[in-house]
This record gives sequence, C-alpha cells and structure tokens, in this order.
Amino acid sequence: LASIDVDLAPVAEGQAITVTWRGKPVFVRHRNAKEIEQAKTVNLGELRDPVADEARVKKPEWLIVVGICTHLGCVPLGQKVTDPRGDFEGWFCPCHGSHYDTAGRIRKGPAPANLVVPTYAFTSDTKIRLG
Ligand code: FES
Repeated sequence: LASIDVDLAPVAEGQAITVTWRGKPVFVRHRNAKEIEQAKTVNLGELRDPVADEARVKKPEWLIVVGICTHLGCVPLGQKVTDPRGDFEGWFCPCHGSHYDTAGRIRKGPAPANLVVPTYAFTSDTKIRLG
C-alpha cells in the first residue's frame, strides 16, 4: 500500500494540517508547550484507554493521529484553532459528543478508544513518511 511524505516545515507551532492517507484523514498537530504538558501530566489511571503520551508520539511537538472518531467514524473537530476542541483541548466529535485530549486520547463521551496513531517515521527533522 502507498506511503506518502508529509513536509512539516510549514506547520507553525499551535497549528495543524490534515492530509489524506489511504483514503483517511490524518491529523498532524504541531503541539505547543502547554499542549505537551497537558498530555504528559495526565494520571493514566483516569484514562479509558490508558496509553502514555510518550508512547503515542515520536517527537513531543508532533502528534499524528488518524482523524476518525473511534465511536462511529465521524471526523472530529479541532484542527483549526477556532474549532471547538472539547473539554480536554484536543478534538471534539460533534456526532455524539466524544472529547479527546492533546494526545488524541478519549477522555469523555461514547468513543471506546483513542484516536489511532498511524504507522509513520521521521525521514528528516521536518519530514515524515506515513505508511
Ligand atoms: Fe464520534 Fe459518535 S462518531 S462520538
């Protein structure tokens, strides 16, 4: 299956882009220091799908997740800074009200699992290859 290369250089801190990979939206968010801190300081015992932030990223400033709600497959809001991002400042799925945090982990609402981290690798400081 096809791999794609994504250039991260144009994505400023605090911003996000959506790319399409294998027919799915993939969210690439350039997290700021506050978002990284929020993601790291969560007590894992409070999480429905407990995974440490460190296990979901390759570099703390870049969060890369498949943009499909794990409930029934809507595309969550939160890619634009003006979007609703839910109670945990990551993404909000308006279909049935799932709230994801700044690591893409489910925190509230009906979704059973975290947003999926796709297979990818850094091919340089500012480039990734998905797939
Ligand atoms: Fe996202 Fe139901 S599809 S909350």
